[in-house]
Amino acid sequence: MKDHAAAPRDTVRAAHLRPEPEAVEAAIDAARLTDADRAAIHETAVGLVRHLRDEATPGLMEVMLAEYGLSTDEGLALMCLAEALLRVPDPATVDALIRDKVAPGAWMAHFGHSPSALVNASTLGLALTGRVISTGQANSLRAAVRRVGEPVIRRAVGAAMREMGRQFVLGETIESAADRAAKLEARGFTHSYDMLGEAALTAGDAGRYFDAYAHAIRALAKRCGTDDPRRNPGISIKLSALHPRYETAQADRVMAELVPRVADLARLAADAHMGLNIDAEEQARLDLSLDVVAAVLGDPALDGWDGFGVVVQGYGKRAAPVIEWLDDQARTRGRRLMVRLVKGAYWDGEIKHAQVQGLPGFPVFTRKAATDVSYMGCARMLLDRADRLYPQFATHNAHSVAAILRMAGNQRDWEFQRLHGMGAALHTHLAKAHGTHCRIYAPVGRHRDLLAYLVRRLLENGANSSFVNQVMDGTVDAATVVADPIPEARREERGVTHPSKIVAPRENSAGWDLDDPDTLDRFDAARAPFRDAAWGDGAGEPVTSPADPSDVVGHVRLATAEDAARALDEARTWDAPASERAAALRRASDLYEAHAGELFAILAREAGKAPADAVAELREAVDFLRYYAGEAERLSDARPTGIWACISPWNFPLAIFTGQVAAALAAGNAVVAKPAEATPLVAARAVALLHEAGVPRASLH
Ligand code: FAD
Ligand code: 2OP
Repeated sequence: MKDHAAAPRDTVRAAHLRPEPEAVEAAIDAARLTDADRAAIHETAVGLVRHLRDEATPGLMEVMLAEYGLSTDEGLALMCLAEALLRVPDPATVDALIRDKVAPGAWMAHFGHSPSALVNASTLGLALTGRVISTGQANSLRAAVRRVGEPVIRRAVGAAMREMGRQFVLGETIESAADRAAKLEARGFTHSYDMLGEAALTAGDAGRYFDAYAHAIRALAKRCGTDDPRRNPGISIKLSALHPRYETAQADRVMAELVPRVADLARLAADAHMGLNIDAEEQARLDLSLDVVAAVLGDPALDGWDGFGVVVQGYGKRAAPVIEWLDDQARTRGRRLMVRLVKGAYWDGEIKHAQVQGLPGFPVFTRKAATDVSYMGCARMLLDRADRLYPQFATHNAHSVAAILRMAGNQRDWEFQRLHGMGAALHTHLAKAHGTHCRIYAPVGRHRDLLAYLVRRLLENGANSSFVNQVMDGTVDAATVVADPIPEARREERGVTHPSKIVAPRENSAGWDLDDPDTLDRFDAARAPFRDAAWGDGAGEPVTSPADPSDVVGHVRLATAEDAARALDEARTWDAPASERAAALRRASDLYEAHAGELFAILAREAGKAPADAVAELREAVDFLRYYAGEAERLSDARPTGIWACISPWNFPLAIFTGQVAAALAAGNAVVAKPAEATPLVAARAVALLHEAGVPRASLH
């Protein structure tokens, strides 16, 4: 029987890749906005945009990104520079990087566009660099500029990038950051400090990040003036910083090793009556993060503390069920939880990840308006559950802000949040005009740990779909900047290529999302029948598992010189029309997928492949078959050249084996294939499936 908490957790999983139109309608329902509400929200939002345009003085970063948005080649070049520059160790490489990124740009087209003299001066500098370096003439001048100019340019570009970084970081140490925060705290703002660092790759890194968090909590404890976490400074932590293998495949280790670390930090924060918030990261980690959250919440030492915080990403299709699950947790534990509602900072990565993984759909919305609508639906859900969940609305968007003001009405027990370096004018104005409270997310640390965070901020500010970008762009009128997202969200889906179509016209190989617990179960079930199977007819030499020599995977008879001579003798080119050869290769690709469980089992037992590697291997093999089927049709005039010997390595015993063989067969050649000695069984299965698909035995030995 399912316990009380299990039902909403199933709902969370079921929503993972749900169709976008269905999720959008659910969010619109959840938001419960009347036409009058929507009109009033729009009007408030337009007023906010006008105010921002009249009053706010944008910083260098905003102006720079307004001119060089990510939709221009030059903007992308600057993004690449920013991303790479801070970690290039030597000046020669820095110069080469600048030359590479700056030279091809159409910089002069931007000159004079920006109202900022500084941006125009930078533009001129960039244009000059590009010109001088890219012209083939005037070699001596170029040499002179290289001698005198490059260090100067390097320093200027480096300084500009560091300046952009500084905009987003409150201080290098928690002490200096907290000192710097004092001025805003005196004006009623609070902070949630974030010690920069994430995605630890080693136990050493994870240990360092743990120490940084613990030190920060102790330092902030001294600055907690009340016993109410809503009024005290807080801390934000990233679970990926605290464990080098924070992934579903390592769930047992995560529960055994990461949970106690988070619980230690939570106890420190609880003792200080401060908030401790778990940042939301990639969707692939969401399910596991809920296990961690539930386990930490179960710690009785935390009873009576209302400062535990969780982030919900509105762009995720699981956002609404996650809120229900959190509500359920709060009720079960008899505790109030803090819930920060964001839209989500990893959108580009999520889309690319789903495409590359060949998932059946996307875990996040694919249109900005859909995310905005989801955000409103989630906001209403939080306000409805405010007795158990303390709503923290993190957004810089005037429309989202206006929607929350409208939905909250007279309700007061919630807060806004913004990022340090963003949204200052908006939230200062809201505090004055509406008496709202705002907490500022304040990154703390040094440049070497800033990179990932900085890239997310540049993507967020540079995307022309984002509010902060549009509000800077005077050519977009205020009403458009804050257009009601509901009609747009309801329009037909378009824009982002579905994962199955990214290699069109051929079909993408089917993915196995091993971060999804249900798929992981399916993966295990598919290979379970082959756990003790033995391949071959029992004659010949035993093949044993490299991981466990007592596991006999099957038997193999090694070919003799006579066998090889006979194969060459009997080999015949494949005299079928190209369309027939292509069809057989495609049938083979489907057979490979249909036998996935068996192939995963052989790959694990014969080649020692871990699950993710086995999936990647099978998918590559399937893609080779489909690719060469397409090539057979495209080059249908090609003539076979004879007999091909295909010799493959042990490290990709199915993919590379299949790729070579399929390429030769596609053109109608005969093939004599020799697998690596370490991995003959998987190759034998591959050949059997190719024969079954219609490749003549005489053409493939
Ligand atoms: P808007 O311009 O209205 O929205 C931009 C957002 O829309 C993008 O970031 C993306 O989420 C979404 N979007 C853009 N294009 C598309 C598209 N084509 N389809 C679907 N959606 C799209 N983010 C996290 O992931 N985890 C955190 O823990 C986290 N903590 C935060 C804490 C605070 C205090 C704040 C202010 C932000 C935090 N963020 C976090 C970052 C947050 O996700 C972004 O700042 C936020 O998405 C920007 O939203 P907006 O409403 O300000 O801007
Ligand atoms: C990020 O790190 C703010 O948590 C958010 O991008």
